[in-house]
Amino acid sequence: PSPLQYKNNTLYFAGIRLDTIARNKRTPFYLYSKKTLRHYYEYFSKSAAKNGIVSPLVCYALKANSNKDVLSTLKTMGSGADVVSVGELKKALKAGIDPQKIVFSGVAKTEDEIRFALKCGKKGIYSFNVESIEELDMINSIAKKLKTRARVAFRLNPRVNAKTHKHISTGNKTHKFGLLKEDILEAMDVAALWTNTNLVGLSIHIGSQLTELNATIKAIEELSKLALKLETPLEFLDVGGGLGIDYTAEERSKLASIDTYMKAVSDAFEKYYYSKTDHCPRIVFEPGRIIVGKMGVLVSRVVRTKISDSNHFTIIDAGMNDLIRPALYEAYHEVLPAQTSKQMIKTDIVGPICETSDCFGTGRKLPKLNAGDLVVIDNVGAYGQTMASTYNERQIATEYFI
Ligand code: LLP
Repeated sequence: PSPLQYKNNTLYFAGIRLDTIARNKRTPFYLYSKKTLRHYYEYFSKSAAKNGIVSPLVCYALKANSNKDVLSTLKTMGSGADVVSVGELKKALKAGIDPQKIVFSGVAKTEDEIRFALKCGKKGIYSFNVESIEELDMINSIAKKLKTRARVAFRLNPRVNAKTHKHISTGNKTHKFGLLKEDILEAMDVAALWTNTNLVGLSIHIGSQLTELNATIKAIEELSKLALKLETPLEFLDVGGGLGIDYTAEERSKLASIDTYMKAVSDAFEKYYYSKTDHCPRIVFEPGRIIVGKMGVLVSRVVRTKISDSNHFTIIDAGMNDLIRPALYEAYHEVLPAQTSKQMIKTDIVGPICETSDCFGTGRKLPKLNAGDLVVIDNVGAYGQTMASTYNERQIATEYFI
């Protein structure tokens, strides 16, 4: 459910008039609904339990939104964290998330980051999801110096083609992510070399904004086959994140729901893993977008309108520095006016940045807006604020929670 609603042609967010919320606030700003956030986390975790997932651990992917109130809300609801930098790790810890519920992904973990992750809490983090043998060597030697053992999982590159935008597909053999099966098996032959690591799991993450499940099921098959081949009993299998949200009406009709996703994951593990062994590793999830995507909007004001040749432009005060998804992935986000009217026009909604890609939509049907009118860009709770920059010396938009 969206926090947005029209009543008598006026836009409300979480039951409050948008113009009331925006009064005395500098635009653009991000606006989040705690109720929607809680809804999605609860739906996700309950669905895992309902569909028979073995001791699910939800490690929310901070890169989607690392706002401190988001994190403390999720922590209170029992969430763990998937982090990709020491910055994210520190934020997760600050929110009170138990290090034993934190997995560390990413191809470029540095010495300092590994040391910090090994030393945090009483026992360090739950798992380093290792993406190369070179990284494993580094983790091992740091753990040795610290006289400790690191918990590690190999991230398998399952060689699947996830159907999503090419910039956010990550499970193909040409991608920089993970290790190929044969390289993991080769490493296992000489596993004794890594004296200060314990192999506790295997992980995958094949891409983001996935709307269908075939590639996910195929990847779970690959993960399971590899897990069965390894002689080490594993504590967990991590399926990564990736489940998409509906940005358009078309996506709404074909998108896999959380329940469908959980059932597919559960069935795939049953078929390819649990039915073939007595071991019962738990399942880890790293969802980002599905948890936070729908809770947020970017609120912006019209600066002016302009007509050039046959083009009508609505120029707003939010730019690609605030929300880069349309420019970077040609992503579609609905733009909605605070006040509707019957007189609609076709307009391009553009921002203040000096690039043609600073455009939130072309030929959109909107009421004729005037300077000072409010609009919202919808579904920006994930990968909105976290990807913001100060390009053109602009300020980072403030985030508000309702
Ligand atoms: N785990 C790993 C290892 C990841 O790399 C990612 C996302 C996730 C989990 C969470 O995936 P999610 O559930 O959010 O799909 N900036 C792009 C998305 C990049 C995703 C990167 N990795 C966008 O705005 O669409």
